[in-house]
Formats: sequence, structure tokens, C-alpha cells
Amino acid sequence: MQHITILGIESSCDETSASVIRDGRVLSNFIANQSIHEKYGGVVPELASRAHQSNIVPVVKMALEQARVNLDEIDAIAYTAGPGLIGALMVGSSFAKGLSISLNKPLIEAHHMKAHVLAHFIKEENKPMPTLPFLCLTVSGGHTQIVLVEQPLDQKVIGTTVDDAAGEAFDKAAKILGLPYPGGPLIDKYAEGGDPQRFSFPISDIPDLDFSFSGLKTAVLYFVRDHVKVNPNFVSENLNDICASVQHTIVETLMRKFEKAMDETGVKSVGIAGGVSANSLLRKRMLALCDKGCEVFVPKFEFCTDNAAMIAIYGHYMYEEQRFGRLNTAPKARMEY
Ligand code: KG4
Ligand code: ZN
Repeated sequence: MQHITILGIESSCDETSASVIRDGRVLSNFIANQSIHEKYGGVVPELASRAHQSNIVPVVKMALEQARVNLDEIDAIAYTAGPGLIGALMVGSSFAKGLSISLNKPLIEAHHMKAHVLAHFIKEENKPMPTLPFLCLTVSGGHTQIVLVEQPLDQKVIGTTVDDAAGEAFDKAAKILGLPYPGGPLIDKYAEGGDPQRFSFPISDIPDLDFSFSGLKTAVLYFVRDHVKVNPNFVSENLNDICASVQHTIVETLMRKFEKAMDETGVKSVGIAGGVSANSLLRKRMLALCDKGCEVFVPKFEFCTDNAAMIAIYGHYMYEEQRFGRLNTAPKARMEY
């Protein structure tokens, strides 16, 4: 049997990652995080690009070594062409193009957000693939989307945020609370043991299947400002309850709209994707949909936040259709779905 072996490269934000996938199964998925951004309270694009430059060669080398695959066994190189930080994307795209020329192997341009969804289509032992159509809630630092997946490469966004993304809402709330970037995982951690009903924040309800999170950020800002005036230690004394209440508000906002989308489409094969899908409450709420007769897919943690395995599986499906990229394509910060 002819194998399909894809090298995936991801560099859209603050993770440099490379992965080798053979016939849809992960042989390696190596991720280098960039801790440099922590002290700045967010990703600094210029620093991200420089870190990608330092990391890209060792990361690809590690991925190939872990997979025990030589460069000449690779059938195609898939890289993130967008959306993302332009300087960061250029590092991965230039590297992928150089490799493609030197190996004389085809290039594949991957759409970062579609790739997050495709993480569910990675083959794993004892894990079924989602039945199609599949309804996916993609929640990351830059996007919040409800996606109707007819086929792995045929995806349609049926709901989106009109302002901040869910991950951004977590990170901005965390910043107001004095927590370092990225604050999402820390809110999740401190929420454990906290009372989610102690403080109440607005749950936005805008028309259709869209989301809005900017009101929450303002509500948290005023809430902290007003309480700190009275008690300067208010945040540290109530951190668990504040985090639990913020987390509850974000997850409730997401789930109300997602359940509306399930009702409207009638789709019962459902899942979550993107960095925020690592959130413990969101995972719990999603898994609870099993009780409503749904087939629920919650990704492994390594496939939630940015990783190259999702880029390589995107490459796998594109390779099957022989849909290759071109050497003169420039990566795009914004990219149509
Ligand atoms: O998909 P991703 O790695 O990068 C983007 O494409 O944006 O998502 C990163 C986002 C950040 O906003 C981060 O705070 C959030 O995912 N995140 C979480 C958790 N883990 C990561 N948010 C809430 N709870 C978590 N456990
Ligand atoms: Zn992402």
C-alpha cells in the first residue's frame, strides 16, 4: 500500500510546531512554546517572529527524529498560510517553501482555523471519527466560530463573534485580575473550588448564532475597579470565586448559542476545537450533551492549542485531492474561511 506522509509546520502565533503524520496517524507532534510574552501581558508580534526564527529548524528536526522519518520519505509539506500574525506566518511559510524547493516535494497551504476543526479527523486507536455532518464550536485566542462540517474540507461558519473571541475574553479578564498571559488556563485553574454563582456578569444575547464578549471585559473592569476602591485586597481574597464566575459566564454564553445551532441544524455529532477547548468547564458541559443523545468529540489536550498535527492532517486531506500550493503565495493575516 502507498503511504501518505505529511510534514506539518505551524507558526501563526506564539507556538512553533512541527509534526509528521502518516496515513492520518500522528508519528510526532513537537511544540515549542514562547514564554517571552508572559511579562508583556499578550503576544508581542515582533518577538514571536524572532522566536520562530530561532525555533523552526530545531523543532522540525525534533519532529522528524521523533517520527523516525527521513526528509526523503515526506510526500508533501503543509504549512499554516493564515490567518495569524503576518511576521510569524512568514517564518513558517518561507521555511516550508525552501524545503519544498530543496526536496522537490509539493507544498500545501493550510487554513489555521479549518485545521483546528480537522484535529478531530486525526486517526487514533479506539477513537471513532465524527459522523458527518459534524457541528464544531471553535474557540481560540482570535476566533469564536460555530462551524458546520459537511466533509473534512467542506466547512461553513454559521456563527461567529462580532467583537472579542472567547479566548480573548478569558485573557483580558485575567489581565484585569493581574494574572500573566495567557490567562485562560489560569482562570481555569483558579476557578476550581470557586463558586460560579457568587458574582454575576452579563451573558450577551445578540441575534442569530453570533457571539459578543466585549461587554464582559468592560463589566469585569468596572467590577474590579469598584470593589478595589472599598477593599484593596478584594481580588486576591476572592480570586477563586471571581475566576469561577467569569468562566461560568463565558462557557454559558458559548453553550447557549451552540445549543441553539444544534436545534437549528438538527446535527447531533458535535465537538469543540481551539485553545479554549482545553477549558475544563467547557469540556464538561460539552460532554454532558451525550445525555441528550449526541455523539460528542472533545480533543486531546495536545490538539486543543496550536499544534502542527492539525496542520499535517489538513495536509493529508488536501494531498488526497492533490490540492497543492504555489511558491509565489504570500501568507495572509486574515483569510477567508
Ligand atoms: O488556539 P490557540 O492555541 O491559539 C489561537 O489560535 O488563538 O488558543 C489560545 C487561547 C488563549 O486565549 C488561551 O488563554 C486559551 O486559548 N486557553 C484557555 C485554556 N487553555 C488555553 N482558555 C480557557 N481555559 C483553558 N484551560
Ligand atoms: Zn489556533
